[in-house]
Amino acid sequence: MFKDRIRSPELEGKVMTAQEAVAFFKDGMNVGMSGFTRAGDCKVMPRALAERAQTEQLKLNVVTGASLGNDSDGMMAEAGVLARRSPFQVDSVLRRHINEGKVLFTDQHLSLTVEHMRSGNLPAIDIAVIEAVAITETGAIVPTTSVGNSASFAQQAKQIIVELNLSMPVEMEGLHDIYVPEARPNRQPIELTDVDQRIGTTAIQVDPSRIVGIVVTDALDSPSSVLPPDEETQAIAGHIIEFLKGEVDAGRMSHSLLPLQVGIGTIANAVTYGLLDSPFTDLRMYSEVLQDSAIAMLDSGQLSFASASSLTLSAPKMAQFLEGLENYRDKLVLRPQEISNHPELVRRLGIIAINTALEFDIYGNVNSTHVCGTHMMNGIGGSGDFARNAHLSIFVSKSVAKDGAISSVVPMVSHVDHCEHDVAVLVSEWGLADLRGLAPRERARVIIEKCAHPDYRPALLDYLERASKRGGHTPHILEEALSWHVRFQQAGTMKQEQFQTQELATA
Ligand code: COA
Repeated sequence: MFKDRIRSPELEGKVMTAQEAVAFFKDGMNVGMSGFTRAGDCKVMPRALAERAQTEQLKLNVVTGASLGNDSDGMMAEAGVLARRSPFQVDSVLRRHINEGKVLFTDQHLSLTVEHMRSGNLPAIDIAVIEAVAITETGAIVPTTSVGNSASFAQQAKQIIVELNLSMPVEMEGLHDIYVPEARPNRQPIELTDVDQRIGTTAIQVDPSRIVGIVVTDALDSPSSVLPPDEETQAIAGHIIEFLKGEVDAGRMSHSLLPLQVGIGTIANAVTYGLLDSPFTDLRMYSEVLQDSAIAMLDSGQLSFASASSLTLSAPKMAQFLEGLENYRDKLVLRPQEISNHPELVRRLGIIAINTALEFDIYGNVNSTHVCGTHMMNGIGGSGDFARNAHLSIFVSKSVAKDGAISSVVPMVSHVDHCEHDVAVLVSEWGLADLRGLAPRERARVIIEKCAHPDYRPALLDYLERASKRGGHTPHILEEALSWHVRFQQAGTMKQEQFQTQELATA
């Protein structure tokens, strides 16, 4: 029945149920699962593990590429399967468990996880669970909609379970470019000098004797949940396009710009959609995730090539993509996240990196992960891989959140993911702050004037003026620097006047 999908005769007999495969797992094991931004995630084994944990103690350290879909993370968290989890997640149930301290989460640069495993900084994987579209004659695993960390997990694991997904067309074979850097020392340069180059194999080569089970599924990836562009995200896209036009006019890049990396989420997706109406042509992406907007740009011809580690699409876009697969074959490649996010390549290719901030401060430090400095949202993802090494590191955010109760521009960020040294440009719906070459006191004025919401500008300027009187290279009033967050926690708003009115009313 699966002859066209399991082409290695010696592996045909390894097909089993998830309940049989779950017996390979032992309490305390390190498990590497495929899945990156809810694409190409293993779907059957997380459920089977959660079911087994109902009747016996089964605590695992689960490492993935990035986020899983199909409520797998939430299910495993509720069942108590997750002792440790890394390097990224987006599940609201798992998020709660992390913030309650029940699951120990390591939030990690996505290019680094398998490098740390390879070098022994992190423990090796005991079992890898990898979603595949097929297994070749030599036992190599052909991934589905993401590569993520699957290649390194499969190469390092003592045992491998393949989830063979029949809902994904076998014609996906050939989309992937699997390249795993050698161990250090004496590693050679990664020989990739353009986004459309292929430097590896189309499948993950493993010793087939380590494939201990093959579980069959036809479950789909969870569709992307990003919202369509709105007035504010369109304004953000507009500012970026005007800025990039300026770069072209100044002769710093051509109309094809430099390769683009655009982060996850609603704002990032809208920014890419904005490029559809831009004058730029023959664009190329060297990103980690391709969202609906990237496929729309490939269709319009404006994007000539896209390199990434995963495809996270809405249900209609995924259907369109799979139906027209042949048209995308020579325009798209999926790579291991270690390669899509590799600092050596990001620096060499001169990426324009566009990522999203939860909040940024008047000096340009960015918080992408922690609400009010303590509560994990998703994780840093690949944003740091790109931001530190990019030709241009751009961060975007709406100027306010929660109906205006939160200012995304604050005196001091409550957690730092990207420090001022890694941030060249900040953008909100109000404008764009070009921070290149500016000193902290200059940066602060530009950020407040260009990016802060008008409701919060006077208070930010007042803070800056009073702080500047105290002196310093990066002036602050330390006892007040995080008072905006405290005010939000106490009164549900960062607005000083509302807070004072509430205080008077309570008095
Ligand atoms: N304080 C508290 N909550 C905030 C906030 C702030 N300063 N700014 C935004 N939020 C909330 C929003 O209200 C929204 O909440 P909701 O889900 O309850 O409506 C949520 O955060 C998401 O914000 P949204 O404006 O919809 O942005 P997004 O979908 O583009 O996501 C990030 C923004 C920062 C959460 C997301 O981009 C992320 O996780 N980034 C880190 C990883 C990364 O950048 N990876 C990219 C490499 S490819």
